[in-house]
Amino acid sequence: MTAADFVPAGADLEELRAAARGCQGCHLWEDATQTVFSRGGPEARVVLVGEQPGDVEDQRGEPFVGPAGVLLRRALGDAGIDPADTYTTNAVKHFKFRRQGKRRIHQTPDRIEIQACRPWLLAEFAQVNPRVVVVLGATAAQALLGPSFRVTRQRGELLPWPESAYHPEDFAQPGGTAKVLATLHPSAILRADDRDTAYKGLVDDLQVAASALR
Ligand code: URA
Ligand code: SF4
Repeated sequence: MTAADFVPAGADLEELRAAARGCQGCHLWEDATQTVFSRGGPEARVVLVGEQPGDVEDQRGEPFVGPAGVLLRRALGDAGIDPADTYTTNAVKHFKFRRQGKRRIHQTPDRIEIQACRPWLLAEFAQVNPRVVVVLGATAAQALLGPSFRVTRQRGELLPWPESAYHPEDFAQPGGTAKVLATLHPSAILRADDRDTAYKGLVDDLQVAASALR
């Protein structure tokens, strides 16, 4: 199973967003409240890719509206990236969780789910055509850079656009111009023992991403 059957060919962002509401490309749609697609327009020069919507995002229908989003926007500001110049999305578009009493506990999406949801991501890249794509954490890195990529070792570097990530219907975009940079996920910074150091690391990496805009 994959999202490919649900992605309309040649669709613009609004059409993609609308179609994604009905995606059943993996089983994650069954328990989640709704598809959380993205925020931002096609003119954005920076694409930010998170893991999946969290509890708050699942209820509100928008990416990065919880605590991780607050931290991310602060870090973007500190790195000199205008939030209006960003398009924010996730590698996986439905919230994966297990229930524990009344609480919904986040679960990391597995390889099959990441792979299933990837056609949405590629369709988004083709429409936005960014200068730089920032992958936040291991799940997003896996979606774009493959399972052997290690964020902890290869973070903060501007990498060439991976050939495997060309949109199947649109080989012209964003190949050749877009760069990819991996960094820590904002939620990992919120959990870190030494939050200040982890936060500074995120800002440093985002500054490298910002340098690709000059
Ligand atoms: N974490 C993510 O990766 N994405 C969101 O949208 C929210 C939290
Ligand atoms: Fe479709 Fe992705 Fe949701 Fe799975 S997680 S149902 S592939 S949108």
